[in-house]
Amino acid sequence: MASLTIRKLDDAIKSHLRLRSASNGRSVEEEVRVILRDYCEGRPATAAPAPTAAPAQSERPTAPQAVHGEARVTLIIGGGIAAYKALDLIRRLKERHIDVRCVLTRAAQQFVTPLAASALSHQRVHTDLFDAGSEFDAGHIRLARECDLIVVAPATADLMAKMAQGHADDLASAILLATNRPILLAPAMNPLMWNNAATRRNVLQLRRDGVAMTGPNAGEMAEAGEAGVGRMSEPTEIAAAAIDMLRPPKPRPLAGKHVLITAGPTHEPIDPVRYIANRSSGKQGFAIAAAAQAAGADVTLVSGPVGLRDPAGVTVIRVESARDMLDQVEAALPADIAIFAAAVADWRVASEGAQKLKKTTAGMPQLALVENPDILATISRLKDERPPLVIGFAAETEHLIDNAKAKIARKGCDWILANDVSPATGVMGGDRNTVHLLTRKGKDIDVDSWPVMTKEQVADKLVAAIAKALEESS
Ligand SMILES: Cc1cc2nc3c(=O)[nH]c(=O)nc-3n(C[C@H](O)[C@H](O)[C@H](O)COP(=O)(O)O)c2cc1C
Repeated sequence: MASLTIRKLDDAIKSHLRLRSASNGRSVEEEVRVILRDYCEGRPATAAPAPTAAPAQSERPTAPQAVHGEARVTLIIGGGIAAYKALDLIRRLKERHIDVRCVLTRAAQQFVTPLAASALSHQRVHTDLFDAGSEFDAGHIRLARECDLIVVAPATADLMAKMAQGHADDLASAILLATNRPILLAPAMNPLMWNNAATRRNVLQLRRDGVAMTGPNAGEMAEAGEAGVGRMSEPTEIAAAAIDMLRPPKPRPLAGKHVLITAGPTHEPIDPVRYIANRSSGKQGFAIAAAAQAAGADVTLVSGPVGLRDPAGVTVIRVESARDMLDQVEAALPADIAIFAAAVADWRVASEGAQKLKKTTAGMPQLALVENPDILATISRLKDERPPLVIGFAAETEHLIDNAKAKIARKGCDWILANDVSPATGVMGGDRNTVHLLTRKGKDIDVDSWPVMTKEQVADKLVAAIAKALEESS
């Protein structure tokens, strides 16, 4: 059977195919397959969607996040196979109301045409450093500075090497060297290129220079039979990363504060294979750690055994038992704020079996229990290193507020978050929580009852309350 080489088609047909495939978010090859299938199945040929057409509702992101004001991106398209996806990226950025100006490297023009980029961006496309038409007023400097963000997609191994070395011998590298704007790279290359020692050095250097990156992802390569890390992030992922960088920086009310948090259950060993535990999932404590980190705090999270991923930017210390947890909490002091969200086991087995307990004819083993250290009370009563704000949790199944008020007094902490953990509430292990914030005000205790929320919302509200208290006390 004859094979079709797209490269050998007429330029006009190639250009049409590229535009059409980019508009439909497919590769050129996939687009040709769709056209042929439609033809064979007798479906009427559909015209290439106009580059300016709004995307069909079904292919729009559910909630395109627009940046406020007129954000402007200079998009540098490098010479890699993934360049065709950069055309889709232009659409994704534009549907988020971002103005896009494209620069194509010489190599990029082997993969996509300036015409396609220009039609999709509705702007003139720039390709040459020595372009009399735009360099009469140093156009490369304008492209470098008259934008809010520079995105390089695909960022080739070659472009990254040039950036890391500070080269400026073509328009793309000159813009990247002359800019004072943030830069987001979407690397794309063969896995061997990505893993090459030279590329590793360049990536490290660029990260040190403050350049942001999205991807590359793992997956199949364009080269037949090859797979690994090197695929460019999808256009929607790159657009989301760009939006994040374009947003005004979030307020960081806990900047400079060390927040110490405990989370999860503890496991109290009975013997080498058995333990006493509870149903805590750790989700609430992990959500608080992520919220405090997002608010600028330096966060240490001491967690019992849970199946949750470490929140980004948080120092996570994994422990098993209540005694390990107390040791690690004490080692992490001093802290400005301590939040004890862990469901620490009250008791442990008095003498842990050195070997697995066996069934014997002598009857059931008798497990004598002893009390575990009380972490909240221990830290609340410290003389020298007591954190200025100590917050406990009261997980109760009855008389919630009364028990929580008694707990504040008994433990000597400043605030308590009380929640009903009766099985019917689904709080233990679930994603939602209904809490009451009890705060000590002199001799009185204020109770603020929050509506049912996700654990992330509870975390955000708690962090906001902490930030407000810090502001009021300063
Ligand atoms: C078919 C083909 C595909 C290529 N794909 C990539 C790629 O995905 N990533 C990459 O870093 N280089 C790739 N290259 C090599 C670059 O095109 C080459 O390094 C070029 O100099 C990059 O120029 P630029 O960085 O100025 O765009 C490819 C080359 C060819 C011929």
